[in-house]
Amino acid sequence: MRPTQGPFPVTRLRRTRATPAIRALVAQNTLTPADLIWPVFVRDGDGVEEPVPSMPGVLRRSVDRVVEAAREAQSLGIPAICLFPYTSAENRTSDCAEAWNPDNLSNRATRAIKDAVPDIAIMTDVALDPYSDTGHDGFVVDGEILNDETIEALVKQALSQAAAGVDIIGPSDMMDGRIGALRAALESEGHKNTLLLSYAAKYASAFYGPFRDAVGASGALKGDKKTYQMDPANSDEALRCVARDLTEGADMVMVKPGMPYLDICRRVKDEFGAPTYAYQVSGEYAMIQAAAQNGWIDHDRAMVESLMAFKRAGCDGILTYFAPAVARMLQG
Ligand code: PBG
Repeated sequence: MRPTQGPFPVTRLRRTRATPAIRALVAQNTLTPADLIWPVFVRDGDGVEEPVPSMPGVLRRSVDRVVEAAREAQSLGIPAICLFPYTSAENRTSDCAEAWNPDNLSNRATRAIKDAVPDIAIMTDVALDPYSDTGHDGFVVDGEILNDETIEALVKQALSQAAAGVDIIGPSDMMDGRIGALRAALESEGHKNTLLLSYAAKYASAFYGPFRDAVGASGALKGDKKTYQMDPANSDEALRCVARDLTEGADMVMVKPGMPYLDICRRVKDEFGAPTYAYQVSGEYAMIQAAAQNGWIDHDRAMVESLMAFKRAGCDGILTYFAPAVARMLQG
């Protein structure tokens, strides 16, 4: 029976879904390797690749192998990689001095990549957690995470990264005022073109668990990060964080985690129109890998669908551990 009212059959929405060619024509969003930033874990040694058990398919690599990864990223059309050091216990101290050691793991990896693969963009993390004996992103005194004292250390850390040749500095610490302090210091030290990609809306999330294993921080972390990372209940606050960071000198902003926070991505993009990135974090990656390994979901389809969702939500790019796998798939 044909309905007597309404647009049917004038409007059959299924017409535009009928064939691959028509679906391609009407597709609103695209996913390409150029949308990806690949987070890579760096460890000491030579010729070492060590699996991270809670992140199947992810490795901790020694500097020489990180250079190989950068070469691979470049050949796959991935524009940037993001370095995270796995710090041994003896380099975790209460003064966090290893964070601004010009020869720390992150800076050595940066120089090695810049030598061998000069065209790939290098991003690094600014926060004290890889170097602190408490696993926190800032200095802790009597259980309090100190804001202003931490910023002084973050500035030293960022300047050492910029001097090593980092293109994009990613402050992930969530201290108040750090973007302004970092921008001022970079300007005055002659790094006027170093980009700041602020982890602006970063939530206190259970989805960071596998990452803390990967960088060796899980054992160290005392308590939680709820006094500096955001409450998952809030979204207006994310806009205030982004507004503040853009005013203080951020070039690009990030929402983190990704998949549970697509509403935040959309609001941030609509409100500011700034280059906006999402971090599909370790726990999101681990969930997809675990389900796929159990045969419960199709790995490739789930991977692509999860990443396309970020583009649909307004993101300009995605930090994802899937970067090489999805780039390979898109290329082939
Ligand atoms: C630390 C930092 C974290 C991540 C990136 N930088 C963890 C945390 O805040 O505890 C998480 C990334 C991931 O889970 O993939 N400043």
